[in-house]
Amino acid sequence: MVTINTRVNGQVRTADLEGCESAAEVIRDQFGLTGTKLVCGGGVCGACTVRVAGTAVASCLFPATSMRDAEVTTVEGIGTRAALHPVQRAFLAHDGLQCGYCTPGFIVDAVAFYERWRAGQETGEPDRQTIARALAGHLCRCGAYEGIYRAVAAACRGDHDSGHEEIVRVDGPEKVTGEAVYTADVALPGMLHAVLIRSATAAAEVGQVSFGNAPWALEMLPPDRRVRWAGQPIAAVAAETLSEARQFAASTTVQTTELPFVLDPEEAKADGAPLVYETRAARKAAPSSAEGLPLPARWHGNRHGPASMPFRPSAARRRIASAREAGSRGLVELEFTTHPQLHTAFEPHATVADWSDPDLLRLWVSTQAVDHIRHEVTKRYQLRDEQVEVISDYVGGGFGAKLTVAPDTVAAIELSRLSRRPVRLVLSRNEELTATGNRPGSRAKVSLLADDRRGDIQAMLVDVENHAGVAVNNSVAALCTLVYRRTPRLGRDTDIVTNAPPGSPFRGPGGPVYAWALEQSIDALAHQLDRDPIALRQQWDGNRRRQGLYEWAAGLEVWRDRPATGSQSGRFRRGVGIAAANWMYFVDPDCEVVVSVEDGRLVATTASQDMGTGSRTVVARAVAEVFEVAPGEVEVRLGRSAKATPHGPMSGGSRTTVSLWPAAREAAAKLRAEVGGPVTPAHNGASASARRGGDRGIRAIPVTMGEIQVGRGFTAAVHVSEVEVDTHTGKTRVLSVYGGLAVGRPHVPELARSQCEGSVIQGIGLALYENQVLDPHTGLTLTANLEDYRIPQLGDTPEITIYFHEDGWDHVPGGGVGLGEVATISPAASIGNAIFNATGWRPVTLPVRPDRLLRGIR
Ligand code: FES
Repeated sequence: MVTINTRVNGQVRTADLEGCESAAEVIRDQFGLTGTKLVCGGGVCGACTVRVAGTAVASCLFPATSMRDAEVTTVEGIGTRAALHPVQRAFLAHDGLQCGYCTPGFIVDAVAFYERWRAGQETGEPDRQTIARALAGHLCRCGAYEGIYRAVAAACRGDHDSGHEEIVRVDGPEKVTGEAVYTADVALPGMLHAVLIRSATAAAEVGQVSFGNAPWALEMLPPDRRVRWAGQPIAAVAAETLSEARQFAASTTVQTTELPFVLDPEEAKADGAPLVYETRAARKAAPSSAEGLPLPARWHGNRHGPASMPFRPSAARRRIASAREAGSRGLVELEFTTHPQLHTAFEPHATVADWSDPDLLRLWVSTQAVDHIRHEVTKRYQLRDEQVEVISDYVGGGFGAKLTVAPDTVAAIELSRLSRRPVRLVLSRNEELTATGNRPGSRAKVSLLADDRRGDIQAMLVDVENHAGVAVNNSVAALCTLVYRRTPRLGRDTDIVTNAPPGSPFRGPGGPVYAWALEQSIDALAHQLDRDPIALRQQWDGNRRRQGLYEWAAGLEVWRDRPATGSQSGRFRRGVGIAAANWMYFVDPDCEVVVSVEDGRLVATTASQDMGTGSRTVVARAVAEVFEVAPGEVEVRLGRSAKATPHGPMSGGSRTTVSLWPAAREAAAKLRAEVGGPVTPAHNGASASARRGGDRGIRAIPVTMGEIQVGRGFTAAVHVSEVEVDTHTGKTRVLSVYGGLAVGRPHVPELARSQCEGSVIQGIGLALYENQVLDPHTGLTLTANLEDYRIPQLGDTPEITIYFHEDGWDHVPGGGVGLGEVATISPAASIGNAIFNATGWRPVTLPVRPDRLLRGIR
């Protein structure tokens, strides 16, 4: 053990070191400065950046011993909420953040860049390339890059040198100063640390599990003691420190009998393939990757399905068969393949469970659904409502992966029950990229028929095999049948189960995959018929909101000036592509907001959460508008669910803002009527509440699934992307993206734009880079770190323009609906169509890697 002294943010600190700790571990665990975030643990993402003797370093790789006698600056030393640095002010004003988990690292390095820039350039403005180069070691999974560019440029220009502050997000100040405490930062007195023990093989029968001297341990196997994928939790152990817990996990012995397994969906379909689920009971327990209610489907071996969405399917089949026989040029038949995309939320799955008081289980969980988690836990452990409290003040991203009670939460609860002490369990990046779900892969066959003279749509057949590993209930073909509906059609979804990690809902589940297939097929048909791709969609599409977007897209200069397909022959070829998107409108009718007066201040409370989408700001603005005050004057209490907390929506299914905004406004209006004007301490104790309810005055489609109601009307998006293809290296660069959204009036336009920009970034990742890869011999995930699993960087960000077509949602209170999912669906498909326009070669397999592109164009 060695003891070192170091100066951190101007204060002398002492640390006791075993010698192998990283600076990040010591800064977080011994100094309690949790603004420094741990994301990749490999020096790739930049979230843990601190300055040592003025130089920015990745503290996850920097040895703690090297901090001896050094001057260290963390984000907490850059500026406080009372005295912000110009760079922090710029991030707040230009909304250079969403969930905020990457933000401290960006701020520390951006300050270093700002100082260098201002020393040499005074108030000149760095261009995007210069900023991208300076911050090249930083990643943001939410895709807040546009805001980051704007913020850094503005700070360097000197726009934020004065003390004046503009704040887009009400919780921005906590995030830019490192004050925001996420679940992974929570430390309680007497807390134990836990880790999961996972299967290293893809299929096995598990015998005895021997935990040696581990003081607290539990098995986590299903009743049949089978593991079906590499990474499946087998057991969990807890100990006084994380390193002890890891040692106990390493010395735990698990007796296994390995079983044959199958990872390739084609092999899984063959007769005699190892069965993933060999009994009815096991099939019933298969995880679901659906967000809502699945369509009914039957099992045949490793096939689950098909689940069908038909409308005059015989006519569709007959018409396509005759067109095939006749060799009609109005028929396009294509096959598309996609691979799993990983959510990669920057805050890993994390739980701190405190069940030391048998009458109160307190749970800090990184979740998108505080209220839902509380209800699930209450049910699972047969507790009374007042016995469970769930806390998630800040959430470092989720994207659909944090909607349910995950194994890490179960393990932390059980170990806390055993030990009667608080227990923390935070997944490693390897676990996060292996075991927390993915957007499933697929193979989609599309047959699309149009009249070869007039271009009218005549039939559509979509057959999709979904590859969600051990999970089932995927819908891709079903989504295709909801879009161009004026034709006989049949969509069939079949799950092919394998011993790969389970898929799970991911922003717009099934959406980007359906668009990749269907929107490229339409493009191919337009090309075959020599029709304009927008005009053909206008002819087919019955959604009047999307018609407004087509008009907007047709008028874009980039669209009007696009090259003729296949007309270029140089090394660099430019292309422009379009794709449209369709999604449902969901709402949580039971969402309730209470607005009250405490200490003369407005307080809004609901059991929802903010995972970076801006729910806190939405509620603050809704209440502030009614009272005609600044949003910062409203305290919003989100991220907590207890018996007395009014129900709030989960952050999933694009239902959050559309549920919160009207309820918050109505509650605020009632309170204002009661107090008769601005609030003062004399109004302390006054309060009013409002429930969102279904859409009043209209008949919502009568489908309610749990906390979600399907509202009337489909949301719509259209993306136009411009790419440059390097035909020598096979690399594709996205130059600009125009995203049109028909979701009514955005309640907080800055946040809505940021969500849409982030969707474009994630679409670029899906289109060009992201692909979970498994070892074919073991089933272990090979892309289990951020070096091997490439997500878009600052330098990959194109110029993004977002347009809101506001008509068509007047029947919805507030006049606008959710957009997080519809915005995600069409970017990748528009990039595929742009590559075709540039090269004359159609990419059918995602991601469009350079090797695939070079093979294709040659
Ligand atoms: Fe960057 Fe969420 S804001 S990871």
